[in-house]
Amino acid sequence: MHRQHQNEIWILVAVTAVAGVLGGILFHKAALFIAIVLAIYISNTLRNVFKLHHWLINRNASDLPEGHGFWGEVFNEIFLMEKENKGNRAHLTNMLTRFQGAAAALPDGMVVLNKRNKIEWANPAACRMLGIVFPDDVGQAINNLLRHPDFLQHLLANDFSKELHLPSPRKLEQSLLLQIIPYGSSQKLIICRDVTHVSKLEAMRSKFVGNVSHELRSPITVLSGYLETLQNIQIKSSKELERPLFNMSDQVKRMERLVTDLLMLSKLETEPVKFTNNIVNVPGMLALIKESAELMSGEKQHELCFEIDEQLYLLGNQEELRSLFTNLISNAIRYTPARGLITIKWYRQAGQARFDVIDTGPGIARQHIPHLTQRFYRVDADRSRETGGTGLGLAIVKHVLERHDGQLNIESVLDKGSNFSCSFVSERVVAKPPATSDKLSANQ
Ligand SMILES: Nc1ncnc2c1ncn2[C@@H]1O[C@H](COP(=O)(O)OP(=O)(O)OP(=O)(O)O)[C@@H](O)[C@H]1O
Ligand SMILES: [Mg+2]
Repeated sequence: MHRQHQNEIWILVAVTAVAGVLGGILFHKAALFIAIVLAIYISNTLRNVFKLHHWLINRNASDLPEGHGFWGEVFNEIFLMEKENKGNRAHLTNMLTRFQGAAAALPDGMVVLNKRNKIEWANPAACRMLGIVFPDDVGQAINNLLRHPDFLQHLLANDFSKELHLPSPRKLEQSLLLQIIPYGSSQKLIICRDVTHVSKLEAMRSKFVGNVSHELRSPITVLSGYLETLQNIQIKSSKELERPLFNMSDQVKRMERLVTDLLMLSKLETEPVKFTNNIVNVPGMLALIKESAELMSGEKQHELCFEIDEQLYLLGNQEELRSLFTNLISNAIRYTPARGLITIKWYRQAGQARFDVIDTGPGIARQHIPHLTQRFYRVDADRSRETGGTGLGLAIVKHVLERHDGQLNIESVLDKGSNFSCSFVSERVVAKPPATSDKLSANQ
């Protein structure tokens, strides 16, 4: 028991005993005197309890009551506690004011959502970009204010690993980059950034590349035609022209490939995703690609091994998927030395569809792997140039996969070979529809 409690009990016992003894000796009424002492003690205790209750109700208006003895100690403890609390409250208020000041000065928008996706707080930049009125919109569900289907889907999917591009609900020409960060107990923080300028520049770049490639296409086709004619004529005339003509024709073919790849890339970057929900007969398509792969392998006589699940179809865009498969297979053929083994697999795994191209080529050093899907990135520019590579193939692969909710995984060991593996989410996997003409569907 606390020492003060013991003292208080001892005092009460002593006073009651003295009153009982004195009352008994002097007036022969010990019980009456004890009762009087206890009544005085109880009324004093009640008075102090009422004073404390009164102070608790009007805490800010009235001063802490004064007391004596044990109650003096109690009031003193409460006074010290209250003083400490006031200090803590002032410190917290000060910190919160400073934090809100800093968040208000941020150029990026910030919105705090509770676990029901209702707005708890928003800074001025978020109000400007997303049309939130703070504090009037506190308690409003965010999906009442941001109604873009992509945003709603993103919120429902509950997977916030990716950023989201959206037009601003206030100005359609303004592009926003949104990121949702879950924190605490199911709360979320939305961070948004105005990327109008960057998006415009990116669109201009893609459009420019697209236009230039388009313009270059016709002169290159004309040149290529004339070169072919010249090569045919030259066979019968001068032998000295044979080599230059061959080189010119080779370079023109490279330019043609470059222009085709650039056009494809600019289409993938600028055009909205369309026709990505057709049923594509992948086994049929791979059978056609196999024929051209054998032709491409030619003198190198690779061992081409196709392991194809004939029942596995995919929802997607025919042209784009053809480009993806062709790029990966042609890389394996291009970079694998003569008579090497190249395995192409199309199969189902854990509900997903997977496409693997496994080669026994030179492999790629670990530090290059994260950069392979950048435009014009080549591990060995000289070797790539020799083989006619431009460094755009894997950039195309990356874009096509993005547009098909797919992922690329590259595993490679130097001097052993590489495995380029694509996986497509189960929502895109379809079984072979009954009575489908394979050739027809692969050629659509
Ligand atoms: N299977 C492979 N084995 C070894 N290296 C590879 C393989 N596939 C790609 N690479 C390396 O990755 C680089 C990028 O490949 P990418 O397909 O993007 O370009 P490219 O083949 O050079 O040209 P293209 O645009 O004609 O495809 C290549 O230059 C090559 O160095
Ligand atoms: Mg390539």
